[in-house]
Amino acid sequence: MALAAGAATRAEMSGDEYRSPGIVTSPSERQRLAEQLERERAQAAEREAWHAAERAASAEAERRRMLERPLGERLLEAHCSRCHRPEVVAGVRHTALGWRVVVERMRWWHGAAVPRADVAPIVAHLAATRPATGAAAALEWGALAVATLSMLAVGIVYRVRLRRTFEGARR
Ligand code: HEC
Repeated sequence: MALAAGAATRAEMSGDEYRSPGIVTSPSERQRLAEQLERERAQAAEREAWHAAERAASAEAERRRMLERPLGERLLEAHCSRCHRPEVVAGVRHTALGWRVVVERMRWWHGAAVPRADVAPIVAHLAATRPATGAAAALEWGALAVATLSMLAVGIVYRVRLRRTFEGARR
């Protein structure tokens, strides 16, 4: 049954479809085909050259676009995506203080190779683009205030004690 169906389809094919493109009869016909082939090749080469130029232009535009980005963003990309995906940083929000702590933690704790001079631009960029607001910001600045105040308090207590010790020694 299947064989019969196959035979039927084949029988419907015309003489042209049977002719192999490799068999060309007359020399003029051969010449014509050779010229056509040559034209098509030239057109393909032209198209390829055009695409290559297009690709080079867009690569150059992309390179320019990358160079025109803010310094902090480029430094962030260069230094901070070596150990973790950029999304790790993208989802986090901190105040300038919090970002400073994070970047210093990356440097000292995880050994991130971020040059001293690059820290400030990175922190400024992070604080500008991923800022903490409201309660989170209050918490971070509050922590700094508490730390400063307690250091101040420790200093005052220490001074008072010292003075008492001296006064005691003089008496
Ligand atoms: C040497 C590897 C390394 C480099 C480079 C690095 N990190 Fe990290 N980072 C880590 C590791 C490990 C963790 C997960 C453990 C942790 O949170 O301490 C992490 C976690 C984080 C987190 C999520 C935790 C948090 O505190 O919010 C942030 C944000 C972050 N990194 C920011 C940065 C930034 C910004 C830079 C570039 C200045 C950077 N990282 C470069 C290793 C690195």
